[in-house]
Amino acid sequence: MAAGVLLKEGVVVKAERNKTIDISVDEGRQYLDKCVEVKGETGEDRIKDKIILGDTFEVLSRLKGKFIDLLIVDPPYNLDKDFHGNKFKKTSDETYEEYTEKWIQAVIPLLKDTASVYVCCDWVSSTPIASILKKYFNIQNRITWQREKGRGAVSNWKNGMEDIWFATVSKKYTFNIEDVKMRRRVVAPYRVDGKPKDWEETESGNYRNTYPSNFWDDISIPYWSMPENTAHPTQKPEKLLAKIILASSNEGDMVFDPFMGSGSTAVTAKKLGRHFSGIEQNEQYCVWAGKRLEMADEDNTIQGYADGVFWERNTRPQRKKKQ
Ligand SMILES: C[S@@+](CC[C@H](N)C(=O)[O-])C[C@H]1O[C@@H](n2cnc3c(N)ncnc32)[C@H](O)[C@@H]1O
Repeated sequence: MAAGVLLKEGVVVKAERNKTIDISVDEGRQYLDKCVEVKGETGEDRIKDKIILGDTFEVLSRLKGKFIDLLIVDPPYNLDKDFHGNKFKKTSDETYEEYTEKWIQAVIPLLKDTASVYVCCDWVSSTPIASILKKYFNIQNRITWQREKGRGAVSNWKNGMEDIWFATVSKKYTFNIEDVKMRRRVVAPYRVDGKPKDWEETESGNYRNTYPSNFWDDISIPYWSMPENTAHPTQKPEKLLAKIILASSNEGDMVFDPFMGSGSTAVTAKKLGRHFSGIEQNEQYCVWAGKRLEMADEDNTIQGYADGVFWERNTRPQRKKKQ
């Protein structure tokens, strides 16, 4: 039985602490009604702060204007995957490269000259994606996210990481390094004249705020007791998106996600005072994204990010709700 569910009088019910968002399309019809469909040429105004329901390849070709400051892409990886009825089939590297090039060519006309682009992948899709990205963009870095739960394998090393490629349209781009500092515990507190040297002494422990590297080992995948969790099979954590959004956009910028899933990019952008838009073809996921966007009106906290810094995994600062 899945974590967070119980068997009660022969019926499977959610445990009390299980916060997973899994309402049906019928239960969440009001969220679907708020989505937009793009049938003809459409500018930024109609899609700003909205979820677009549709096929990304059709929708992108109908959007007009250079309005994207930050593009975050979490496409289907090159794996057999069932996205609640929409099946993605594993293919050759060459065919996956063609698929990648198709969405990149469709989105390029919408990017501002100062835009940044982040693309998520596993180790298999990382190489084909990078080879296409370098044809169109300036690759700035490759981030490795250490997922704490690896995907099991008996005849190979367990897959415990994902890559996130960071690229830019030009050499002029936003990068707010001060906004993405990490709060690390100080193991060996060094003092000069009895005073902490480059660290802070607090009631809850000794900490130092440091600049982040391209190896991210402080982010958990969403799980059943977290308010952000949905039943989407490949949901990204808000903490991961918050790092990207804070570093590579400013308040009021437009953050766009062409494979939006359960809305993690949109929700995090909203919580951080950015505009958002994104495309998702599955009605079920649009409903969950809509529900999360509504929840963000009441609660703009991001687990693992508080007081302007990112906290180490499993250190839990006080959650402060929206004023
Ligand atoms: C890897 S998931 C993204 C998950 C997302 N980052 C999240 O946190 O929930 C990819 C998503 O792209 C959607 N998708 C795949 N092909 C699509 C297409 N042609 N148009 C629109 N959405 C598509 C799938 O339904 C799936 O939800």
